[in-house]
Amino acid sequence: MADWSAIEALPQVRLEQLFADDAGRLDRLSLDVAGIHFDWSKTHLTADAVAAFEALAKAQDLAGKREAMFGGQHVNVTEDRPVEHTAERGEGAPESVKRAAGYHARMRTLIDAIEADALGPVRHILHVGIGGSALGPHLLVDALGRESDRYDVAIVSNVDGMALEDVFERFDPAATLLVVASKTFTTTETMMNAESVLAWMTEDGVEDPYGRVIALTASPEKAVEWGVDETRVLPFGEGVGGRYSLWSSIGFPAAIKLGWDQFEELLEGAAEMDRHFRLSALHENAPAMAAFADLYYTQVRGAETRAPFAYDERLRLLPSYLQQLEMESNGKSVGVDGRPIGRPTAPITWGGVGTDAQHAVFQLLHQGTHLIPVEFLAVIEAGDTLDEEHHRQLLLNAFAQGAALMKGKANPDNPARAYPGDRPSSTILLEQLDARTLGALIAFYEHRVFVNGVLLGINSFDQFGVELGKEMAKEAAKGGGDFDPSTTDLIKRAGLEA
Ligand code: F6P
Repeated sequence: MADWSAIEALPQVRLEQLFADDAGRLDRLSLDVAGIHFDWSKTHLTADAVAAFEALAKAQDLAGKREAMFGGQHVNVTEDRPVEHTAERGEGAPESVKRAAGYHARMRTLIDAIEADALGPVRHILHVGIGGSALGPHLLVDALGRESDRYDVAIVSNVDGMALEDVFERFDPAATLLVVASKTFTTTETMMNAESVLAWMTEDGVEDPYGRVIALTASPEKAVEWGVDETRVLPFGEGVGGRYSLWSSIGFPAAIKLGWDQFEELLEGAAEMDRHFRLSALHENAPAMAAFADLYYTQVRGAETRAPFAYDERLRLLPSYLQQLEMESNGKSVGVDGRPIGRPTAPITWGGVGTDAQHAVFQLLHQGTHLIPVEFLAVIEAGDTLDEEHHRQLLLNAFAQGAALMKGKANPDNPARAYPGDRPSSTILLEQLDARTLGALIAFYEHRVFVNGVLLGINSFDQFGVELGKEMAKEAAKGGGDFDPSTTDLIKRAGLEA
């Protein structure tokens, strides 16, 4: 069991006082990596806190576990396999890097063929997948693809037929490529959506709908069995977890929408963050410092949630991407040794887009009873071409909110108008939002999750918690299942008995 006593014993000092006591605070608690500026000076981290976390990291052998991950050892112990997403960007065990490069070459060849009309005319890409097989590519296409007129990409995840119907209304079946993205190639929602797309194509007279399908999967034999021609199956390795898979063939919609060069830039940005994570001392290491702040609030101050706010429309899908990455990875109760962890694990990740969120949920952040570490994300270079006052307002609002959370405002005459202050925030400021910087940013979050996991003794790479609900839904669909009276009644009311 890790010893948290030194961290728990840290003195609790108000943020403004921490600035007053230490002229070097901003320098000590900020750093620049891969075109991204990180500022934790408005969190309660101090030099002593960072030192205490470094000691804990040493005791938990973070350096050894980090090398084990990059070295291709089976750090995903419950599934007895390596963790290979970094190999997708060229950082990892040589055999994994080589295999990933081969898969990328295959993906590139297929994209070249599509661009050369080898599959007939293609204007629309309809990607079906869910969870990690949708959230990552969706984020990439939404963040970076706004100005590209190469292909119309739609990403559909929900089994709710309305999601597909929306796309059917705007896509031409004869000019659509169906991309089925599923690591396992068994996920109910994805397979059902894929079948419905094929039916839509058939009904519209498309002659060989299966000839218009591309599969992105770690189970290529299942894709072939389902009917996809082997030449259009783009595999990736079993060691690439779903929520870590946007770098693999799962990133296909981004690669085709942005072009191959941009996809490579994304991988290179991520690789730059990998090297930073692997080689920097922990007090100068962005993923480690961010994880220390996360852990300080969950373990010492009782924070149950954390809230990233993207002050940039292009990053509006980042909070939901992070929800899966962080909560599916570290939302666990037992450790790698199978024993109860006995302390809080991943906080609930929620968040939104600024400035919209200011007019909706920030009331609670400023005056509510919960302590919520906030993370502001902003980009110096504007994504729009309107009057630059738009972007100026956007950034100034982000910065002012962080300042207000920290400073607060007393009001002895009217408590309803008093702001307690001392509320923590960190800021992540990108110079510009391009493929390279976004790659580095996403890799930063992945490694931050890893550090959190190691310090808590969690295997961040399995997700058994999602299985029970899936099994029960399958039983219900077959008309079976041993359900409680409430659930039985709901099934009956909705007329769903098989
Ligand atoms: O149910 C959770 C999950 O297994 C995620 O971990 C995964 O990203 C998602 O479902 C989709 O899985 P697949 O890519 O195998 O369809």
